[in-house]
Amino acid sequence: MTDPAPARLVVLVSGSGSNLQALLDAATDPAYGAQVVAVGADRDGIAGLDRAAAAGVPTFVDPVKAYETRDDWDAALTAHVSEHKPDLIISAGFLKLVGARFLAAFGDRYINTHNALLPSFPGIHGPRDALAYGVKLAGATLFFVDAGVDTGPIVAQVSVPVLDDDTEETLTERIKVAERAQLVDYVGRLVREGWTIENRKVRIP
Ligand code: GRF
Repeated sequence: MTDPAPARLVVLVSGSGSNLQALLDAATDPAYGAQVVAVGADRDGIAGLDRAAAAGVPTFVDPVKAYETRDDWDAALTAHVSEHKPDLIISAGFLKLVGARFLAAFGDRYINTHNALLPSFPGIHGPRDALAYGVKLAGATLFFVDAGVDTGPIVAQVSVPVLDDDTEETLTERIKVAERAQLVDYVGRLVREGWTIENRKVRIP
């Protein structure tokens, strides 16, 4: 029996792209079962796009400001992602909330990794907010994106300790190490094994 074709991943980024790099590295092993077929961004000049180019992966850039309305941007992003026929779309440090069109097209296969243990500390300052609150455990959450901000069904969570002398930078880095491993592990499992979502419960058979 021949192996099934690798699943097609489209990864969306806004920054350094270390999570993207972890996926690119994992996908070099045919047993991983997935390949990154395109990388999209909402801005130019970011390391994430350089990482994609270095791996020979096609890129596209859709800045919100390039479109008259947010809905036009959402339509363009949806069209660009569609062109690559993704099985799974991964927001890996993508700092834009997608709109209704994107969710209608991909809501059942669009995941995001967030650097906090949801439902605590949603938004863009997860580690900073966790540190300010004084929690003893921080971490990362992988979830299916819905129309809310970091509210969708949870695929997986991983925790790391918060140390007494942590700064926002040290905690952010500790979370990112665990976050990358979780992302690679669960993206592989999702594409190889499939998943169901019922009453917010994500199950990988
Ligand atoms: C990740 O920690 C993610 O949770 C947060 O931004 C970071 C992205 O890092 N939203 P990178 O661009 O993958 O290095």
